[in-house]
Amino acid sequence: MRLHVADHPLIAHKLTLLRSKETPSPTFRFLVDELVTLLAYEATRDVRVVPHEIETPVAKTTGVHMAEPRPIVVPVLRAGLGMLEGMTRIVPTAEVGFLGLQRDESTFEAITYANRLPDDLTDRQCFVLDPMLATGHTMVASIEYLLERGARDVTAICLLAAPEGLQELERSLDHRTEVSVVTASVDERLNENKYIVPGLGDAGDRLYGVV
Ligand code: URA
Repeated sequence: MRLHVADHPLIAHKLTLLRSKETPSPTFRFLVDELVTLLAYEATRDVRVVPHEIETPVAKTTGVHMAEPRPIVVPVLRAGLGMLEGMTRIVPTAEVGFLGLQRDESTFEAITYANRLPDDLTDRQCFVLDPMLATGHTMVASIEYLLERGARDVTAICLLAAPEGLQELERSLDHRTEVSVVTASVDERLNENKYIVPGLGDAGDRLYGVV
């Protein structure tokens, strides 16, 4: 597994605003959108392209365009939905699938309650969107789901990650060199309720205004 922590003052600035409990939902959504766009730039460094010939007004030249099959972006419902627009702004030709996984609040295990994805993901580059990599159970289940269906590689884009979640990914997927995590920060730890500390609270609630 490869880990990339996006180290950039603008990301740190926006993340600080996002963390603050004073930040209301509309601003929170806007900041998530901006942060995802910045993280998507890092996450798509290895997106596949093929040579493509064009003519400028001056001369013929060879550039690139995105290879087929196109990448697939998979927001994990519900909080991952808040990251979708920021991602598709950068990769507008990507297909979008959905995975509904949530944690059981007593066991903290991931439960699948919905999915809308092609059965065959052979050779697809997949980008999983989930703002909080906490215990890692949801992310492991999502990545395994995609790899089992033939995904070529999977990049998880998370706003925040806990060391415990990263360890869980290492433990469960350590032999999978085709898995990457891109995040804006690796925080201190999880608390007794499995919230990331210092974190930003419940990302879904803050995105969608539930108190
Ligand atoms: N999910 C959240 O929304 N926040 C956390 O801190 C952990 C999991």
